[in-house]
Amino acid sequence: MKTSECIMSEIKKWILEIDLINGNSIIKKLQSINAIDTNFKIHSQNNSIFIPLKHEIDNLSVLLNGYEFKIFPAQKNSKNLIDRKKTHSKSLKETLKEIIPSEFHNLLPRAFDIIGDIAIIELNRDEQKPLRPFINSIGQILLENHSNIKSVYEKASDIEGLYRTRKFDLIAGLNKTETIHRENLGKFHVDIEQTFFSPRLAYERQRIAKLKTEFNLNGKIWDVFCGVGPFIIQISKKNPKAHSIGTDINCRAIELAKKNIELNKIVGNIEFYCQDVKEISISQVFSKFQNSISRFIMNLPEKSIQFLKNLPQFIQKNGALLHLYQFNKKINPIQEAKDIFEKELKNTRIKLKEYKFSKVVKPFSPNIVMTVLDAIISL
Ligand SMILES: C[S@@+](CC[C@H](N)C(=O)[O-])C[C@H]1O[C@@H](n2cnc3c(N)ncnc32)[C@H](O)[C@@H]1O
Repeated sequence: MKTSECIMSEIKKWILEIDLINGNSIIKKLQSINAIDTNFKIHSQNNSIFIPLKHEIDNLSVLLNGYEFKIFPAQKNSKNLIDRKKTHSKSLKETLKEIIPSEFHNLLPRAFDIIGDIAIIELNRDEQKPLRPFINSIGQILLENHSNIKSVYEKASDIEGLYRTRKFDLIAGLNKTETIHRENLGKFHVDIEQTFFSPRLAYERQRIAKLKTEFNLNGKIWDVFCGVGPFIIQISKKNPKAHSIGTDINCRAIELAKKNIELNKIVGNIEFYCQDVKEISISQVFSKFQNSISRFIMNLPEKSIQFLKNLPQFIQKNGALLHLYQFNKKINPIQEAKDIFEKELKNTRIKLKEYKFSKVVKPFSPNIVMTVLDAIISL
């Protein structure tokens, strides 16, 4: 490659060609004088790197002293001038802004949830009403931009009722609410309308599944409000020798949880029961678990606390590790979670030995967060 420098004043776009091996050093030098045109891509071919330049560079030979380089004018449509806008995949918001009038841009959702091949978007807040005429185009754009998405639903209610489910309206794609969602190391049959499932708990479930504790093996692990089984199945995968149990009042969730045992090729001992935990003490089937549970997961944040009184007869004699989820006020949430928990313990035979861990799991609403307490309890 020959060292050369051209007069750049009359030509708008220039490409600097350098040896691949000198890429980092030269790019840093060009960045230091803000010379790279970031509207276009830096790219490599064979043993060369092609860098689009933004402006004339005085004394390029001085700046790149000791390096070989070639500089040439970029032709429109040249293979060396790659428009970044045409090649990078745009965010949903960027794409939507092209079809929605600018005065409504601030109403657009910042993100959407993906459960399996279903996208879920929130567009029905009162202030979002001006977006209603564009709703199907929004769904269509989502489908077009994400080949993994087959259906787009919008939230049509809050999470509500005994089963903690919400209503959805289809806005684009296939009308089917059942899907298979991949999370951490597992796969889960979920029916977004008939069962509770939140992809936003993936990180917390990973923490719970990976937790190494003596309580995994000195008794059984019971996910009290198991839904389709994402907590207990991930625990089971990590602890094939453990005996795991899941209960939920929603029989459809239990049906899917049982399918999820097979889907995840669980080899360990795991059982699911469609069961109202309020009536657990009179359950014939459950009587075999008396004094045998060493780890409890209680993820029904709005009501978990009311079910503590159902646990004592199942706690094994060396005590147990409890993961208790609650909704608490954003101000001082952990203290509030502990205060409520300790107050409720007074209505039960359960004693608090110590807290092992606590944290805010995720925001829930502007003033409320979801918390978890990991506590050792005993009788
Ligand atoms: C917030 S969801 C959690 C589901 C699951 N742990 C997960 O992370 O996907 C709470 C679950 O508690 C169940 N539930 C509510 N009341 C119950 C009760 N009295 N007995 C058993 N399960 C109950 C609901 O059906 C729902 O599936």
